[in-house]
Amino acid sequence: MTHRRKIFVGNWKMNKLPQEAQAFCEVFAPAVAAVKNADVGLAAAAVLIPGLTTRYRGLQWFAQNCHWAASGAFTGELSTAMLKSVDVSGSLVAHSERRQMCGETNTTAGQRVAALLGAGLQAILCIGETLAERDSGRWREVLQEQLEQGLAATGIKNWSAALGSDPERPLLTFAYEPVWAIGTGRAATSGQAQEAHAFIRGWLINYFGNDIAQRLRIQYGGSVTLQNVDELMSMPDIDGALVGGASLKPDDFAQLVLRGVRNA
Ligand code: 13P
Repeated sequence: MTHRRKIFVGNWKMNKLPQEAQAFCEVFAPAVAAVKNADVGLAAAAVLIPGLTTRYRGLQWFAQNCHWAASGAFTGELSTAMLKSVDVSGSLVAHSERRQMCGETNTTAGQRVAALLGAGLQAILCIGETLAERDSGRWREVLQEQLEQGLAATGIKNWSAALGSDPERPLLTFAYEPVWAIGTGRAATSGQAQEAHAFIRGWLINYFGNDIAQRLRIQYGGSVTLQNVDELMSMPDIDGALVGGASLKPDDFAQLVLRGVRNA
């Protein structure tokens, strides 16, 4: 099996003020500074990012959204040039909260991914089924549709060029985040998560071919904690975590990352 570099990202969502973000980093950055075999990052609200990216270069910094247009009449959106101007590594795309509350679709998700990759930035494309979709046994169809429609909307044909030149860090990462596990304290079991990740990997192999698909990282997200991170990260197709609530306290998140990388 191909070795994939694990990637741990804390998604702060709409939390923290600048002083709190700064205080977090003073504890968190030194605690994870020794981690060399995995990527460690934070997805922060845009106003928090400028001071942090320059001060804490050892961490990867992600925005939580990014628009596809270069500039223009798109109130509330951020362009890739804006993200680059403050040294972010990339952006989350189509988090389920944006799908549910902000009208994000597979098409707009794909357009955002294309803009990010085109600018040489990383995109973390979030996919995942709702509880009703899981309970009705339709989760595979839902994931397949999100992948198919999202990637078609990128318009990208030459993926090996679009994914950038660093073989360990392809510019596109997937995050499998079952909606029923987000913020509920009810994480997917390691078996459920592995089953979904293996399904996604299989789909990626069909779409991209084996070489590219084996390099693409698939993070798990949804109630990842210190209690379940070991088991989740020991699964063969889980390549890191996207962590909400448990990323808000620096000691806890540092411990979670340090545990996670032991399986890297
Ligand atoms: P929780 O870890 O709080 O469940 O959130 C997961 C998430 O949405 C990460 O993007």
